[in-house]
Amino acid sequence: APFFRISVTFVDKDGEEKLIKGHASKYGRTGLDGGACEGSLACSTCHVIVMDMGYYNKLEDPTDEENDMLDLAFGLTETSRLGCQIVAKPELDGIRVAIPAATRNFAVDGYVPKPH
Ligand code: FES
Repeated sequence: APFFRISVTFVDKDGEEKLIKGHASKYGRTGLDGGACEGSLACSTCHVIVMDMGYYNKLEDPTDEENDMLDLAFGLTETSRLGCQIVAKPELDGIRVAIPAATRNFAVDGYVPKPH
């Protein structure tokens, strides 16, 4: 489909949820970042934790470069990704992601602490 809707819920460090609805005109990076390096895999400030394993499993596998950068991320979990590398597609509609600090305050489905 050339156009599809996608909504994404962000959960912040206070457990506040923010639903973002958008249209995507083609498959591409979601821009779930706000990250310092604007998607060039030179930081880990766009680290997000996918709150549902089902959605996590729908994501494209991370590249080695993403994994290397994730290893440096604060609060790494088994469902961590760099938001800027998540590719938008219709199956991801409804995905919920938490910012890492959120996981300290409340339980997140699929959250598995991962030792560094
Ligand atoms: Fe820097 Fe994603 S914005 S790695």
